Amino acid sequence: MLIRIPKPWTLPERSVTPEQVYHARRRFLQQAALAVGAGWAAPGLLLRAARQSAPTYAPLNAPRNPRFEKVEGRPIAPESIAAGISNFYEFTMEKERVHELAARFRSRPWQVEVKGHVEKPFRFDVDDLLRRFPLEERVYRHRCVEAWSIVVPWVGFPLRQFVEWCRPTARAKYLRMVSFYRPQEAPGQREMRWYPWPYYEALRLDEAVNELALLVVGSYGHLLPNQNGAPLRLIAPWKYGFKSIKSITVFEFTEKRPRTFWNDVVPQEYDFAANVNPRVPHPRWSQATEHELTLDRRIPTLPYNGYEEMVAHLYR
Ligand code: MTE
Repeated sequence: MLIRIPKPWTLPERSVTPEQVYHARRRFLQQAALAVGAGWAAPGLLLRAARQSAPTYAPLNAPRNPRFEKVEGRPIAPESIAAGISNFYEFTMEKERVHELAARFRSRPWQVEVKGHVEKPFRFDVDDLLRRFPLEERVYRHRCVEAWSIVVPWVGFPLRQFVEWCRPTARAKYLRMVSFYRPQEAPGQREMRWYPWPYYEALRLDEAVNELALLVVGSYGHLLPNQNGAPLRLIAPWKYGFKSIKSITVFEFTEKRPRTFWNDVVPQEYDFAANVNPRVPHPRWSQATEHELTLDRRIPTLPYNGYEEMVAHLYR
């Protein structure tokens, strides 16, 4: 695979105090709202605003969780790799072009719906989550089913806390998640009409409340860039990356196992569980090793992506 490394993104602004973080975030949101407003009046302005503001993401105050401080023997990927090479089919299949095509996507304001087997369905704005749940940073291995991998410092909070907040009833056995459907802004949804948009994924509820499952709002110490799934995505690091759905708009608690996007599209290649397993090859390639993009060499793939101790009990 040929990897072109784009210009570095923004530098993490870790030195700011919490109060400054708060004001920086407010300013960022106001500027974003202004840019969107201006865009409706004059698309040229929006383009310019997006170009000017793309490299700046509001910093987040998120202490690193000492349990996920680092990944032994592997460096954290430079942000230019994590933000420059993405899988986000809503925009394009070309990994290195996602950031450019997603730059003008409006990921704020962002409404999210909670429905299905919960005591009371409700809606919220994604920024309510930033006020409600203390944020933490976790350095996780990130392993795509296509056999490339990086190590990323995500910012978010345990999915378990979110599930508790939703108050599922005893009938809830699965958590289904759905991405956005906005073909006007997402060229992949317009051009690849054979896919069953919007993207949808799901976890068993016991997987969702496992300590590793993270709802992510940021990376590298600031809000998520669009190409990495702004404003809200899942990270389930013991599974292949396609389970970690980006830009979530719906959480639905279900009794029956929900269908999932890639399993519907190519059932013989992508199963529901999608746990990283070096012993089970993909029908078209081996999963025994992976291309570590930062090290730029192949390394052995670990069962459950190195998180066996924390999740293997779920599958016995
Ligand atoms: N979520 C949506 N909505 N659309 C996608 O195309 N791709 C998945 C996953 N989540 C995808 C998605 C795949 S295949 C991977 S490997 C990861 O996102 C990539 O996340 P990253 O681009 O932040 O590395």
